[in-house]
Amino acid sequence: MQVEQTFVMVKPDGVRRGLIGPIISRFEQKGFELAAISLRTIDRQLAEQHYGELREKPFFGELVDYLTSGPVCAMIWRGRHAVENARAIIGRTNPVEAGPGTIRGDYGMDISGNIVHGSDSDASAAREIALFFNREAASPPVHLFGGTVV
Ligand code: TYD
Ligand code: MG
Repeated sequence: MQVEQTFVMVKPDGVRRGLIGPIISRFEQKGFELAAISLRTIDRQLAEQHYGELREKPFFGELVDYLTSGPVCAMIWRGRHAVENARAIIGRTNPVEAGPGTIRGDYGMDISGNIVHGSDSDASAAREIALFFNREAASPPVHLFGGTVV
């Protein structure tokens, strides 16, 4: 059976506020297995590629500013229905609408700072994992330190 996995990223505000630990805990408690993790500040090119489908949106520039404003914690999480389960514990895009008990509902105040990203489909997960970890990282086992595949 193919391993189901998704791409999750603690955004710069989440890292600044010390939320990497609580977010990792939620994924572990849900039943996910951490497959790879990398802390780094990304450049505008990577941020623009990551959110490429939103390029025409009026908030795109601010979104890229935000994503490049400090280190992000990029992760690959494995588990059954990985994409859907991750989106469920992350919550709605706008923290105002995200329910209590979700990451965005509990830690976020505004859509311009919604703490965490989770892929929206298997295809997006594969694309985003390739972008952040390169293609080799998509097949287990892999251990990443500071963004270098070893
Ligand atoms: P999107 O992919 O629609 O949401 P999600 O992160 O839940 O998959 O949008 C990507 C990010 O863009 C979102 O997390 C926050 C930001 N964003 C805004 O700043 N304003 C908006 O109106 C929308 C829709 C998104
Ligand atoms: Mg999205």
